[in-house]
This record gives sequence, structure tokens and C-alpha cells, in this order.
Amino acid sequence: MKAWLLKDFGLDNLQLEEVATPQPKAGELLVKVGAVSLNFRDKAIVDGIYEPHLVPKPLIPVSDAAGTVVAIGDNVTRFKVGDRVNSHLYSRWLDGEPGPNEPDYCFGSPLPGGLAEYMIIHEDSAVGAPDNMSDIEAATLPIAALTAWYSLVDFGQIQTGQTVLVQGTGGVSIFAVQIATALGAKVIATSSSDQNLQAVKTLGAVAGINYRTTPNWADEVLKLTDGKGVDLLLDVAGGSGINQSVAATKASGRIAQIGFLTGQTVELNLMPLIFRQTTIRGIAVAPRSSFDRMNAFLNEHKIRPVIDQVYPFEKAREAYEHLARGAFGKVVIKIA
Ligand SMILES: NC(=O)c1ccc[n+]([C@@H]2O[C@H](COP(=O)([O-])OP(=O)(O)OC[C@H]3O[C@@H](n4cnc5c(N)ncnc54)[C@H](OP(=O)(O)O)[C@@H]3O)[C@@H](O)[C@H]2O)c1
Repeated sequence: MKAWLLKDFGLDNLQLEEVATPQPKAGELLVKVGAVSLNFRDKAIVDGIYEPHLVPKPLIPVSDAAGTVVAIGDNVTRFKVGDRVNSHLYSRWLDGEPGPNEPDYCFGSPLPGGLAEYMIIHEDSAVGAPDNMSDIEAATLPIAALTAWYSLVDFGQIQTGQTVLVQGTGGVSIFAVQIATALGAKVIATSSSDQNLQAVKTLGAVAGINYRTTPNWADEVLKLTDGKGVDLLLDVAGGSGINQSVAATKASGRIAQIGFLTGQTVELNLMPLIFRQTTIRGIAVAPRSSFDRMNAFLNEHKIRPVIDQVYPFEKAREAYEHLARGAFGKVVIKIA
């Protein structure tokens, strides 16, 4: 099969080659990949800043895939040839609380990912792809949509009328706007682009703040929430912006710490955190059971992924470069 191989860190070391097509062992599915979507994680892996000690070389990168089962190993019962499935990033985290070593079993590092014509997915970690979505659409779900869903629903327990803040207009945040709006929440979005803020309002956001022209964006959030702050804040920016996130979240509110776009370390001011009694919870996507619940919700609410651009398989590097420039929603690579 054709596969992109990351032979060393750096995009120049991502190369399209012929490799042996993997064969499914007991319990495994061989999936003909229809499409994959890129996440910041995929770019960070190529750049060598995401758990570099776990990255095997060469690696077939990219965790998020949708495709069709074309062969099954012995004893497979959950899926059959012809079924359409999604990969699930934390392949062994199926339900409940995570185990201590979930990152050791993630697709796209250290397990082989989906940037290839075929990939192996264990039947336990595969999720039925939504019937109403193409592979191109379904490929956007495993990390970006599921992280937004888990943060809003499993952790955030968002109720109608509550307020949510999302940062930027990338993959996670756009899904968060769509899902939170469908849950009846009022969403405030930030972005570096006024144009993107207009676009995000058409998806349901009630207010937008440009974090470039308004660097003290937490003050604006307080003005928009009668001085209280939001019920739940999805922090994808990371870095020392966490102090503004605490300020922008209501007393006893919650912060889902999802990302690290501006930095993986922070200097956190403890006194505001203590006085506001904020809960900050690290988020690492979600268990498979949450993915199943999310797909039913997306179906029921007719939520369609927002895709900025679809690249052909041969232009995978250009797709990574697009993600690095910034995308409104998701960047997808069509394979089959
Ligand atoms: N922990 C998890 O389970 C998990 C899951 C998914 C993602 N993540 C992490 O979450 C982050 C976002 O991931 P993604 O895939 O959504 O990324 P993405 O699609 O590449 O989105 C990046 C967007 O974030 C916005 N942004 C950049 N710097 C910002 C800042 N200082 N303040 C506010 N917004 C900022 C920009 O939006 P504008 O152009 O509108 O400014 C940019 O387009 C990454 O760090 C990723 O690794 C973690």
C-alpha cells in the first residue's frame, strides 16, 4: 500500500512510500481509509514537540480516520466487512476513568495512524461512523469533536442557558460552538480575526472578542456576563493565558484545559484561583463510550463538521502547512 512515513522530525522528513499492507490479527479490522483529518497534535508530532520519546521512526502519522472495513481477523464480533468505522484516539480507553498509560496506545504515535491506504483498528476501539456523514466529514470527529463533546457534556455538564467560552476558531473550538449551541448554551468565542468572529456567529456564537486587538479579553468576558464570568471555559491556548481564563470564569466555574497552543508550561496565579474556587481539569479526548453518545447527538441535531479545505492524498504536506497557517474548522486529506 501507499503510506506517508515520518522518518524523522520535520515536515521534509514526511515521505510517500510503498509499504506492506498490514494484515488483521485476531480481534482486528483492516480498514480501507477514506479520509483523515489533521489535528494540532499531528503537527506537534511532526515538529517533535509532542511526547517525542514515544514517536517511533518511521511512523505512519495522523490519528483521525474514517473508512470501510475490508477484512477482519478471527473472533471479530462488533463489525463486519463493509461497515464504515472511525478510529478512536485512545484506543484502549473504552469507558469510565482513563488508565495510567492511555497515551501509549494512541493512533498516529506510537501506534501507526491513518495517513495510508489501509490501517489496522482493533474492533474494541473502532466506532461506527455516522451514517449521515461521508468519510471526509466523519474523519473530523475522533479528536476535535469528541474533545469538545467530552469537555462540554461529560466534564462541563452544560445546561440550557449557561455560558461557555471557546478560544479561537480551530477544530476543537468550532465543534464546541456547534455542540454548545445545540445544548442551549450561550457561546462567547475569541479569535485573532474579525472575519472569523463573524463566521462563528453564523454557527451560533452570541458574542465574539478579538484577542489580538483586545489582549485583556477576560475583562470583555466579564462585561458580557454581568461581571460574573462564564460557567465553562474551554482553554485551547494554554500558556500563561490560563490566568485570564481563571478571571473570565465564574466563581466555582470550570475550565477544561485542552490545549497548549501558546505554551506547555504556565505561571499560575494561585490567589485568584483559590478565591474564585475554580476547577481546572486536564482533558485528554474521551473514552469510546462518549464517542458513541456524541455521534447520536450529532445525528439528532443534524450537526455537520465545518471543513476549511480537503487535500488529495498526494498533497498531505500542503495540508500540514495549511494547519500551521491556521484553519477555520478542519483540514481533511482524502485518501480513497
Ligand atoms: N487535550 C486534548 O484532548 C486535545 C484534543 C484536541 C486538541 N487539543 C489541543 O488543543 C489545541 C487546539 O487544537 P485544534 O486541533 O483545535 O487546533 P487548530 O485547529 O490548529 O486551531 C488553532 C486555532 O487556535 C486559535 N488560537 C491560536 N492561538 C490562540 C490564542 N493565543 N488564543 C486563542 N486562540 C488561539 C487560532 O484561531 P483564530 O485563527 O481564530 O485566532 C487557531 O486557528 C492544541 O494545542 C491541541 O493540541 C487537545
